[in-house]
Amino acid sequence: MPKKRVGILTSGGDAPGMNAAIRAVFRRVKMISPDNEVVLFREGLNGLAGRLEVNFDRNIDRTRVRDIIHRGGTFIGTGRLVELADPPDSLQGPDRETWLLRQREIKDTAVVNLRQLGLDAIVVIGGDGSFKGCASIANAYQERFRTPLRVVGVPATIDNDIWGTEFSIGFDTALNNTVDALRKLRDTIDSHRRCAVLEVMGNTSGWIALSAGIAGGAVTIMLPEVPETYDPEQVLERIRTAARLDYRYIIVVMAEGVRKVSGRPRLGEELVRLIEDDAQIREALGRPLEARLNTIGYLARGGHPTAFDNLLASRLGVAAADQALTGETEPVMVGLVNNQIAVHPLSDATTRSPRLITPDDELLSVAWSLLVHADQPF
Ligand code: F6P
Repeated sequence: MPKKRVGILTSGGDAPGMNAAIRAVFRRVKMISPDNEVVLFREGLNGLAGRLEVNFDRNIDRTRVRDIIHRGGTFIGTGRLVELADPPDSLQGPDRETWLLRQREIKDTAVVNLRQLGLDAIVVIGGDGSFKGCASIANAYQERFRTPLRVVGVPATIDNDIWGTEFSIGFDTALNNTVDALRKLRDTIDSHRRCAVLEVMGNTSGWIALSAGIAGGAVTIMLPEVPETYDPEQVLERIRTAARLDYRYIIVVMAEGVRKVSGRPRLGEELVRLIEDDAQIREALGRPLEARLNTIGYLARGGHPTAFDNLLASRLGVAAADQALTGETEPVMVGLVNNQIAVHPLSDATTRSPRLITPDDELLSVAWSLLVHADQPF
């Protein structure tokens, strides 16, 4: 097989396990032929569209990916290039023109860089926005040089909301970090017989909130996809029941995205006030219920990856390297379906993401069976 050159970048929000994925792509590419070359782009798509030499590590050797498998984050850096997406509708007139001009500049620089590097394929480890960005650069490359450039997407985001895979790299670690936080919170809440609202990561999707809420024993969970879960009156009803049932600790898990979809940017604070002022809760307990708002934030996204994430990243990385070397030209994404590696057209992932919680989701029905209900029968 003629020698091939493969570029790797991590893009969008960092996710624990990205380092293991980079390592797996490198090792597999070199295992297939030691003559193959791997280029690392720094700072995600910014590196791709930046100055050569400052932003690339050409033809790396195995020492470059040594001692990284246990580290969280991404050792080559990440970033977002929002201008690669279509300008938002709200942007009109000269601002829109400036956006589009910047988009053209980014693509021009990126395709020239790619040509100079002589790449056959790029493996992009990230979310659907990063996949779209890379695919549009590969399109521009094809138009300008009449040579295809294969793009292979590897799903990595703690939000676990990419279509075409049951798990994205980073989700399991973020989930475990969140459950760990929930347990710590529980110790102190239980000691004081208080209530805590824990805001967790998850912008448009509530997978972390739903899974952590079930695994950590929350009283209720507020999900961006399910409006009734973030209706304050319904949340209060559940807390009233928990108070009547004499719960020692009451934890509400709220996905961060709920603040946006509900149109109440300070919903967490509002809830705390409502809980502390609620007459029915006070009556049930014979005292007011003290409540606290806690936000886990980036603490969920950092830290060493779980074994599950590193295993997933290694499997997807090997599959991505194989896809990068096939000589096929259509952009694809690798994912995990029924615990098997699946390969999808990248356009399916970009048009069908985000993968959100649906009303018939099994995990949602598990939550309905296990959370506290306003009309709890036992
Ligand atoms: O990676 C996904 C995610 O962590 C979301 O949960 C969160 O809303 C978003 O990224 C925040 O990203 P940043 O603050 O890095 O832009």
